[in-house]
Amino acid sequence: MSNGRQAIRVGVAGATGYAGQELVRLLARHPHSRLTRAMASSASSPQRELPALAHLWRGTIEPLDVEALGEDADAVFLALPEEASAEIAPRLLARGLRVFDLSGAFRLRDQAARARWYPRTAGMPHGVVYGLTEQRRAELVGAPLVSCPGCYPTAAVLALRPLVSAGLVTGEIVIDAKSGVSGAGKAPSERTHFSECHGNVSTYGVFAHRHAAEIEQELGASVTFVPHLVPLDRGILETIYTRVPVGTAPDVIADAYRTTYEGAPFVRLTGAALPGIRQVAHTNFCDIGWALDAATGRLVVVAALDNLLKGAAGQAVQCFNVAFGLDECAGLLV
Ligand SMILES: NC(=O)c1ccc[n+]([C@@H]2O[C@H](COP(=O)([O-])OP(=O)(O)OC[C@H]3O[C@@H](n4cnc5c(N)ncnc54)[C@H](OP(=O)(O)O)[C@@H]3O)[C@@H](O)[C@H]2O)c1
Repeated sequence: MSNGRQAIRVGVAGATGYAGQELVRLLARHPHSRLTRAMASSASSPQRELPALAHLWRGTIEPLDVEALGEDADAVFLALPEEASAEIAPRLLARGLRVFDLSGAFRLRDQAARARWYPRTAGMPHGVVYGLTEQRRAELVGAPLVSCPGCYPTAAVLALRPLVSAGLVTGEIVIDAKSGVSGAGKAPSERTHFSECHGNVSTYGVFAHRHAAEIEQELGASVTFVPHLVPLDRGILETIYTRVPVGTAPDVIADAYRTTYEGAPFVRLTGAALPGIRQVAHTNFCDIGWALDAATGRLVVVAALDNLLKGAAGQAVQCFNVAFGLDECAGLLV
């Protein structure tokens, strides 16, 4: 029991990954959850400990066993590659478990888009909710499967949705996005290897990144999305260029944001003080600032978040809190 409430038993699969370790760290200290199982990938790998979590969490990482994962849990977090989530999530749902999936497996509702970007997801299980809490707080309550948004889409959709919904966007939307290297997961590739990204900034995935489809789905508007890899371990910063009607008053933009995010504890509006990654790193906040040239209608919006927290594990715990009727901030303002 904690605070008079029965602790919710949770399991984590993918606990040795970047996002999974953040999940373990958050859930081990969460006031209303009890972390019962934390698992890695291989069924044959030996048990291991996470040195970074010593004194924070007393458990050990077990080999992945889907049957055991669901045995002692009310909810399971999947921080796995999408092909593993696509296979495992339906099995857990069939056993009545609530699932919070961090992969892209269940994010795209359009079948053709899913076939292109997440071909291992044959069909969408019943009751999937796209877990951007700021937009779907009511739908999340009791949801069986929460598909947590991607890191880039979280920043882009939080930054743009208030403007698009208010009918303020009149021009093309260009999202110039930068991510730290942990966004690609822990296995190095030629692009993410230290000697490639140290001292370098590079574009990748232009017109070929699956997060563009997710952003467009959630905005209902087309975007030009250009991701960059920057030599940071964590963090995302998106500089977004668009147009609003000439002569739009600054208050109109500010009001669109204030109205949307009133009561949203993890969105901080910084106005003309444009945010940077340093101010959101290691937090679950997404900071949004903007600059308007009213005479021309040019608008630049800047959004920053920590890809492993608001872009992954923190966001998943935020969804969990809302889905189980807990305080949305429980375990996250640490
Ligand atoms: N990194 C981010 O910023 C971020 C943001 C949002 C969403 N996501 C999504 O979250 C998920 C995890 O990302 P990550 O960056 O934490 O990845 P990661 O660092 O590469 O970790 C992957 C985890 O999955 C396990 N795993 C690998 N292959 C597996 C398989 N075939 N079957 C079962 N388990 C397997 C790994 O276990 P071993 O240690 O045993 O190999 C590890 O625990 C991905 O779907 C990713 O797209 C990541």
